[in-house]
Amino acid sequence: MIETAVIPVAGFGTRMLPISKSIPKELIPLLDKPVIQYVVEEAIAAGIKKIVFVNHAQKTSIENYFDTNAELEAQLEAKGKTALLEAINPFPVDIHFTSVRQAKGQGLGHAVLCAKPVVGSDDFAVLLPDVVINPFKSSLEADNLAAMVKLFNDTAASQILVEAVADKDVSKYGIADIDGELTAGASTSVKGFVEKPDLVDAPSNLAIVGRYVFDNQIFGLLEQVKPDKSGEIQLTDAIDALISQKPVEVHSMVGKSHDNGNKLTYVQTFIEFAKAHPDYKDLV
Ligand code: G1P
Repeated sequence: MIETAVIPVAGFGTRMLPISKSIPKELIPLLDKPVIQYVVEEAIAAGIKKIVFVNHAQKTSIENYFDTNAELEAQLEAKGKTALLEAINPFPVDIHFTSVRQAKGQGLGHAVLCAKPVVGSDDFAVLLPDVVINPFKSSLEADNLAAMVKLFNDTAASQILVEAVADKDVSKYGIADIDGELTAGASTSVKGFVEKPDLVDAPSNLAIVGRYVFDNQIFGLLEQVKPDKSGEIQLTDAIDALISQKPVEVHSMVGKSHDNGNKLTYVQTFIEFAKAHPDYKDLV
């Protein structure tokens, strides 16, 4: 059963500067709550109980956001502000937040490996916080991760979420090599991945979009991955190694993902969420 999720948040978010100079990009608001809260709520909706942030020393405000602020609570309680008290404690009591540090930026694979001492022998999900799914649109769209978790629990095949992207964007993603076509909401076995290929070398236009459900064996394989030219340990290299040992499938996403990692797509996401949110859609 998948009950653990790893969320790597240690990156500096250079594409969101100057905001991310002192505010972690994960805490930038999308409407009335920070980006990371959507990602955490998506994980909880998929049955996750234990969330492990892989963090950096300069981003402790992320940990504080998911901790109790006793002083603030006492003040709100004394003033009878119950709605605000609920707003600052939105997560069920059985959800456990913890964090580990990634002292050096050595890539996504390294970030995931940093969570190993806390995750232990559990199979687990990975959610990248740059990617958000619109929770106000259709429940199926919001439930991609839940569907992947169910598939893993039923079949033991690791699941990697993919979405078709435009030719100009292929070189920004890990790209899947599969036989045949894949319909939205379906999974199929995958032959391998190419990390950020030139368009001519891309095996398809199916891009990894930041949601993974892994057999625990991925940790042992990450330990063996050699750094690439830029010194980074790539998660896709470990997935390629996993494919030769365990079943691995790509899951074609229902709906579309939103990239909050750069300014233009962040603004587009903000507008799209506002137009779908029940409180704001008729007012904006
Ligand atoms: C990472 C992964 C890549 C994936 C992407 C999704 O790249 O390495 O395979 O497609 O996330 O957002 P990054 O965006 O961290 O460079």
